[in-house]
Amino acid sequence: MKDQSATLFESVFAEDTYKGLTSYPKYLHSKYIYDKKGDKIFQEIMAMPEYYLTECEFDILKQNKVDIARIFSSDKDFDLIELGAGDGKKTKVLLKELVEKEYKFHYLPVDISQNVLDELEAALKDEIPEVAVKTQQGTYFDTLEKLAEYNSRKKVILVLGSNIGNLSHSEAVDFLRNIAVAMSEDDMLFMGFDQKKDPEVIMNAYNDAAGITERFNKNLLVRINQELDGEFDLEKFKHWETYDPETGTARSFLVSKEAQRVRIDKLDLEVKFDAWESIHTEISQKYDDAVVSWLADEAGLVVERDFADSENCFKNYIFRRK
Ligand SMILES: C[S@@+](CC[C@H](N)C(=O)[O-])C[C@H]1O[C@@H](n2cnc3c(N)ncnc32)[C@H](O)[C@@H]1O
Repeated sequence: MKDQSATLFESVFAEDTYKGLTSYPKYLHSKYIYDKKGDKIFQEIMAMPEYYLTECEFDILKQNKVDIARIFSSDKDFDLIELGAGDGKKTKVLLKELVEKEYKFHYLPVDISQNVLDELEAALKDEIPEVAVKTQQGTYFDTLEKLAEYNSRKKVILVLGSNIGNLSHSEAVDFLRNIAVAMSEDDMLFMGFDQKKDPEVIMNAYNDAAGITERFNKNLLVRINQELDGEFDLEKFKHWETYDPETGTARSFLVSKEAQRVRIDKLDLEVKFDAWESIHTEISQKYDDAVVSWLADEAGLVVERDFADSENCFKNYIFRRK
């Protein structure tokens, strides 16, 4: 086994994987699901009937695009900075409205996946060539450090798809606090939060019958096999989802179906699993107005307005600095 103190890992992915698989209980970070294959599977998820989030938020943006674009805009140019932009499917509704109304803005999508950013840039060139776009690859936290430097224009920070739900409450407060610190008085944050609802609806969204979410979750093991010369047998792990209606937390796991040892060459590591031992892979937090206000307050933000779909499945909130 590697002596961690003496080791220089070849990438942050390698280091995080080592840490997660040598911890108890074992975990892996969901942000690493997103590579070329993971991006594709996520697009399949967004098209699943069970994955209500995309359709609900899409509806909110379509119904309210005129109001939202007016709130974003100002007499001068502004920067529209999107964190975890993905393929921009829903953002394009807003981009089209902003272009149609001839508002002057620069679109700056950020994502951990270079692949999805390349696809987004190509799609925008084709579908809305008027948009001035500059992509940036990196994690939320890398980007937030640089956000305060974007000071020459008003900033509108966009986080769609309930990306914040992949963070624990304390990480979410940290994330929001970093955003708040980078915001000036005129700036605003527009963020999507999936809402608490029938637990069965939530479970089905992360545990579809066709097994698409299972493939998505297992893409973590596929990446370890491909990039770190791992030897995970995907058949020996079970995708498992839980939802706790009290805390509003949906959690994804990969559970080892048998006692096994898995070699990961590039980490010089053999990972030992007991039968039915788990790897925690993702959280998808669900919210209500009280929790959103509490997170905002902790972070130095205040909710100015919210937009909901007709069934209150999903909400987008506008925040300002306190
Ligand atoms: C659930 S998808 C949502 C995409 C898009 N916001 C939407 O609503 O369709 C999450 C996106 O955030 C990116 N992502 C996940 N974790 C990230 C992180 N820590 N830093 C930057 N991007 C991240 C992923 O690559 C993916 O494109």
